[in-house]
Amino acid sequence: MMIDQSIFLKALRKELNEVPPIWYMRQAGRYLPEYRAVRSKFKNFLDMCKDPDVCCELALQPIDRFNLDASILFSDILTIPDAFNLGVEFKEGEGPVFNNPIRDTHAIDNLPSFDPQDLSYVYKCVSNIRNALPAELPLIGFCGSPWTLAAYSIEGGSSKDFAITKNFIIDNPVQAQHLLKVYTDACFEYLKEQVLAGINAIQIFDSWAGLLNKNDYEIFSLKYINDLVKQLKTDPVTENIPIIIFARQPQGGIQQLSVCKPDCISLYWDESIEDSINMLKGISAIQGNLNPLILKEDNAVIYKELEIMVSKFKDYPGYIFNLGHGITPDIDPDKIKFVTDTVREL
Ligand code: CP3
Repeated sequence: MMIDQSIFLKALRKELNEVPPIWYMRQAGRYLPEYRAVRSKFKNFLDMCKDPDVCCELALQPIDRFNLDASILFSDILTIPDAFNLGVEFKEGEGPVFNNPIRDTHAIDNLPSFDPQDLSYVYKCVSNIRNALPAELPLIGFCGSPWTLAAYSIEGGSSKDFAITKNFIIDNPVQAQHLLKVYTDACFEYLKEQVLAGINAIQIFDSWAGLLNKNDYEIFSLKYINDLVKQLKTDPVTENIPIIIFARQPQGGIQQLSVCKPDCISLYWDESIEDSINMLKGISAIQGNLNPLILKEDNAVIYKELEIMVSKFKDYPGYIFNLGHGITPDIDPDKIKFVTDTVREL
């Protein structure tokens, strides 16, 4: 079988599959004991991301265990801010922390220029995974959206309300847009290198879409995702690589997102399946959107939920089974096996 005939790439071309392709956001991660065993050898998470052999092993762990229909590059969205020398560190129980966050316009004026080769460890990781995977199994590459990367970079890490970031863009809209443009171009160069190294699809994570109202989303996030998609769709290296957009709780909804014409929209778990199907049929593939909390329930409860979900998408041309957000560390891997097997049997 050729990779183009894989059910994952078929779904991204809006073709109907008898059985939906299945993969999971954060399919490699702390819920897997084999991941934790490797992770324990590294103090800093980013050091682990910089080891292409280890990343290859981690990306393959969920494939070996669950026989999924797509693999995803093992890395992180914060490799780009790290390449801009913002001093990204992952602290135990705290998430990411930036030692040099962008706190004034001076920091934006003085950003170093982006050299995509600074992230060559990621491309090496891509080629390692590509070589290790069965030839017909697609590999997803990814980046954060310019807005999500900027939000972490300004805030200096995770936060409940990203108040520093919100104030910064109100006080300095022009400079903020300059930062977003710089990140957009970096994302393009970065994804292009990932394609050259062997990825077969792209996912753009706009994890902090929900911070912005509909109008501000247009100005500070969508514009840049749109520019990025346009650059990718017009470059001979990247033009045929399908693009999935995941936005977490965009206040302007799926309709606003569909404006940038991704091949697929990944639904957050609070999105209505019926409304999304009506809005996107014939326009884009749909990925998602099982609530990750369901994975804490008994198998009988999970089964019922899956039955409903899969039947809603039964006739949808271009459906990819996934969660509405990533697998959390508290999930029993057997639940992922149960969900995968059940979706394939239904
Ligand atoms: O299988 C996969 O999906 C693995 C590859 C992957 C990781 N992060 C590995 C990771 C991907 C695609 C990401 C994307 C990512 N990273 C996003 C977008 C998706 C989303 O969840 O909204 C975001 C926002 C980040 C930034 C990030 N990375 C945070 C906030 C954290 C800390 C919180 C946490 O879950 O630990 C990370 C760390 C991270 N990225 C881990 C993994 C496996 C855990 C690190 C550890 O083991 O200590």
